[in-house]
Amino acid sequence: MKSQSITIRNTMKSQRPLFLLSLYSSALLFLLQPITAVGYLTPTANDTDFIRTSCGATLYPELCYNSLAGYAYAVQQDPAQLARVAIRVSLSKTRHMASYVSNLSRQADYGAPPRVVAALHDCFTNFDDAVDQIRGSLKEMRRLGSGESLRFQMSNVQTWMSAALTDVDTCTDGFEDAPDGQVKTDVCERVTKVREFTSNALALINSYASKETP
Ligand SMILES: *[C@@H]1O[C@H](CO)[C@@H](O)[C@H](O)[C@H]1NC(C)=O
Ligand SMILES: *[C@@H]1O[C@H](CO)[C@@H](O)[C@H](O)[C@H]1NC(C)=O
Repeated sequence: MKSQSITIRNTMKSQRPLFLLSLYSSALLFLLQPITAVGYLTPTANDTDFIRTSCGATLYPELCYNSLAGYAYAVQQDPAQLARVAIRVSLSKTRHMASYVSNLSRQADYGAPPRVVAALHDCFTNFDDAVDQIRGSLKEMRRLGSGESLRFQMSNVQTWMSAALTDVDTCTDGFEDAPDGQVKTDVCERVTKVREFTSNALALINSYASKETP
């Protein structure tokens, strides 16, 4: 061992320029590393296939794939992680809708038909509740246990995501008696879209739950 390290030191001394050169190239390699690392972030075909196959279990497979394929690398063919990502997308869409309805509601206070004003107020409450339910689901999904605990947690997540869907539906119901118009059409179309993301998240939750807690 000892003689070997001496030999190396002697070799270094006699080949100093070469040693420096290799030092430079190591530094260069180190600098290039972040660029190389990005290459690893590209999902494999299998990661992408996993998203497509899993989305087959949802009611809106195209929307599912288009909204989740970008997370293929992060998901790494883990169904719990896929469900978490889908819940996060659903939360983001629902939160945005709550903010949109809140804004419309504020504007509608000045002059919209009373039934539209009432429907917008109720709709905001529904979406606010939905955001809470989805946020609770995400929190639960982030600390999944095993065995009985997992079964209980998944049942909570299923209950809360279903409740969120009901809240979203209640918003649309509230507009049934409101006069037709731009606000009604606009809100109902947007609600339908947001509902699809939440429905998909629930389907992915259900398929994970049925696999893990048969
Ligand atoms: C993709 O999946 C196939 C079949 O399951 C497997 O043989 C292959 O090694 C996988 N490829 C990668 C890059 O993981
Ligand atoms: C609601 O209004 C606020 C303040 O005007 C604005 O920042 C926000 O982007 C609006 N939200 C939506 C979803 O339009």
